[in-house]
Amino acid sequence: MTTPLEQKSTIHEIKTRFDNDVERFSKLETGQQATIDAPLVLDLVARTAALHLKPNDSILDIGCGAGNFTLRVLQEVHPLACHLADLSQPMLERASERIENAGVNYVQTYQSDLRDLDFEENAFDCILAGAVLHHLRDDEDWRETFEKLYNWLKPGGRIYVSDLVSFDEPGVHKLMWKRYGDYLESLGG
Ligand SMILES: C[S@@+](CC[C@H](N)C(=O)[O-])C[C@H]1O[C@@H](n2cnc3c(N)ncnc32)[C@H](O)[C@@H]1O
Repeated sequence: MTTPLEQKSTIHEIKTRFDNDVERFSKLETGQQATIDAPLVLDLVARTAALHLKPNDSILDIGCGAGNFTLRVLQEVHPLACHLADLSQPMLERASERIENAGVNYVQTYQSDLRDLDFEENAFDCILAGAVLHHLRDDEDWRETFEKLYNWLKPGGRIYVSDLVSFDEPGVHKLMWKRYGDYLESLGG
């Protein structure tokens, strides 16, 4: 079950929304509160990534927001060569400030739609994609993006994707999304 393309926000709408929402994405303890399981996912990704990363490896965080995923991984493995990509320049500025404050002196930022990013093959030991891939538009976007992500990873590198999911079984889908709706309402909508 996917959102029909005509119901998706435009890239400009998405960018404007996130440009004005940096604060909400800047709390490492809660993670970004728009997802119900953000702290758990941050923890799982960081501890799992730490099983294969070593200091000075390179990491690419796409849709990095204010940098929570990279920051949490840095708590396990430090330092890393950090590459941060996001549509929103204010998000990137906050992310690089926080990551530099965590003692990392190699931080590169890329203000871009993730579909337009272009890196060399075998560039990264790890790619993080936290709550961003659902912004892809159509099947072609998904195929092209995953082909690129695969090529940018070094052999043995890993990608961690965390995102909204829908369920094929309608009853399960309804139950899970009601749970999510109740959670959002508990935060004030
Ligand atoms: C829900 S936030 C998640 C931020 C961060 N990964 C986290 O979990 O805290 C999604 C981020 O993806 C960015 N984004 C949305 N669509 C994008 C696109 N097409 N290309 C690059 N970044 C995008 C937004 O600007 C926003 O910062």
